[in-house]
Amino acid sequence: MSTASAPTLSEAPYWYLTRSTGIVAFVLLTVALAVGIAATQRTLASPSWPRFATQGLHRNVSLLGVAFLGVHIVTTLLDGFVNITWWAAVVPGASHYRTLWVALGTVAFDLTVLVLITSLLRLRLSAALWRRVHWSAYALWPLSWLHFLKTGTDAAHGRFGVWLAIACAGVVSAAVAGRVVAGSAEPQPLRSPGR
Ligand code: HEM
Repeated sequence: MSTASAPTLSEAPYWYLTRSTGIVAFVLLTVALAVGIAATQRTLASPSWPRFATQGLHRNVSLLGVAFLGVHIVTTLLDGFVNITWWAAVVPGASHYRTLWVALGTVAFDLTVLVLITSLLRLRLSAALWRRVHWSAYALWPLSWLHFLKTGTDAAHGRFGVWLAIACAGVVSAAVAGRVVAGSAEPQPLRSPGR
């Protein structure tokens, strides 16, 4: 949709909801990734902010991000302007609309669901399996970043979305660099409070 002929909120409520919830979901998943990386750093823990507090923040921000992601996908399916079917939300490449860039969002969504389910079932899984699946968060973030930049109206034509995407890339890069430089403990499944 071009900006010049952009419909109003009352004309295209689902389109506005798709855009806004997509951006909120992306920002929340960015924060969740950065906080998750921070949770692996024992040196960041202190008596006033123990590691389980960082882990709890990571879990809650992630769940909120997934909730917004769910609304993003439902409103995409309800939006009459783009004809995206429900299976295109789970099968990469099935969307006729911006096939490649929506497919990246689809793969990111599938990985998000996988990470979510294994985290909910983590007490029934081995720590090694849970950890291996959880590492796919490092893949889903750049996929959703590209999806944002190449599919989103708000990143088109140098709009604010570009700056937001750059800022989020800075946050994730800083978190990853901090982890690489400081070294880290392996991420642990969230079980009980402790440092
Ligand atoms: C982790 C998964 C995903 C994230 C974080 C995400 C996030 C975003 C963001 C930030 C935007 C840009 C909004 C804008 O500024 O216009 C966007 C756009 C869009 N997304 Fe997603 N998305 C994900 C998955 C999906 C999936 C699975 C679908 C397909 C059902 C989808 C469909 C769309 C569409 C059609 C747009 C374009 C909206 C427009 O016209 O601007 N997204 N998404």
